[in-house]
Amino acid sequence: MAGCWSWFLLLTAVVSSAHAEIKFDIPAGKFFSYELMRETFQSDFEPLSQLYLGRLYDDPMVFKCNKQYFPDLPEWLHFTQRHPYDNGFLYGTPMSPGKSVIEVYAVNKRSYETTRQILVLNVYAAKTPPYQAEFFIKLREIEKVLPPPVQGEIKQDLQKLWDTEALDIVNISNALDRGGRVPLPLAGHFEGVYVKVGSEQNFSSCLLRTQTAAHRQQCAAGAKVKVPGGCNFCRIPSNCISWCSTELFDLSQQEPSPPTPTLGSGVLEAGVDFEPPESPEDRDFLPDYLVTVIVPLALALILFLLLAYIMFGRREGVDKRNAKTNQIQLYHHHTILDNTDELRNMADHRSAPPPLSTLPMFDSRTGARATPSDSPRMPLIMAQHDPHVDPLPRK
Ligand SMILES: *[C@@H]1O[C@H](CO)[C@@H](O)[C@H](O)[C@H]1NC(C)=O
Repeated sequence: MAGCWSWFLLLTAVVSSAHAEIKFDIPAGKFFSYELMRETFQSDFEPLSQLYLGRLYDDPMVFKCNKQYFPDLPEWLHFTQRHPYDNGFLYGTPMSPGKSVIEVYAVNKRSYETTRQILVLNVYAAKTPPYQAEFFIKLREIEKVLPPPVQGEIKQDLQKLWDTEALDIVNISNALDRGGRVPLPLAGHFEGVYVKVGSEQNFSSCLLRTQTAAHRQQCAAGAKVKVPGGCNFCRIPSNCISWCSTELFDLSQQEPSPPTPTLGSGVLEAGVDFEPPESPEDRDFLPDYLVTVIVPLALALILFLLLAYIMFGRREGVDKRNAKTNQIQLYHHHTILDNTDELRNMADHRSAPPPLSTLPMFDSRTGARATPSDSPRMPLIMAQHDPHVDPLPRK
């Protein structure tokens, strides 16, 4: 009977965990972080019998987070997970009130099953603390700072430094998101984390000392900065702040930002004529027109005229200055033509026998002449005629 009861409890627990929405109310301007625990998602992947026996796998998992019906997260919310065997984190500081529904999909990298969780983040308006300070923690990485116990440790140190309990974390961000460099993959090299805190209470003397000229000079010189006496409150070395990167923001003297314009209903009231907003001044397009159309056209015209002059205006015999040379060239040309004609005529009428060398069977070495007149069609080279026939056919 008891076994049955626990089965039932387990069943309801599992069913509700798979479909429950997790709700958060977050004050605007305060830091929010949520750890995506792999164990929680693991229980969604396991068959019930495994769950009951308390034997869970330790599967690698990756998460995909987005605003519901949108491809990505809201601008203020970041997601980070270093390794599929690590938990993931959603973190960020919302600035304006509103509700966001976040979908978290977990993909089991062993079975490739997926499961989903819904987070409802309700951001309500809150007063921003007037005194804020940002610290740089050099020996940390964002995933190592986001677990709530570590955030608590850091906050405790800063509370002592600020000398007040009323202190809230405003922002935690990865130094890589702010222009930091990816460190060497060696021990002792970290990405670094910026932590911003805010308080209603004015800065302590320790904090104000970081703003003195002497301190700045020390920092600029790159010397090892002496921690102002009695101000070193960090108990865990990796949580210690870099004194030179500390920045204070005094927002107490800031004038309130102008109220946002109120939006109307979008429907015109009855009896009122719609007055369209003034149209902008007419723009003068003439200079643009001149530059883009007239100037290239003029250039094309000039080039056209220049080419036309070179091609047609400077032909032989027309240019006065070169008239004489051209006449000589013309004369030369005609003489060559005449002489050729004359030679052709003479060749037509010659009656002398053709030179010996033009005769087919003349041996230029011995001067002997074969009797060519037998057969004027005798081929010059017999072998070419037909290699398989006797070269000198007998009659
Ligand atoms: C928090 O830090 C991130 C990263 O530098 C920045 O984009 C964001 O504006 C900061 N938010 C607040 C409220 O300071």
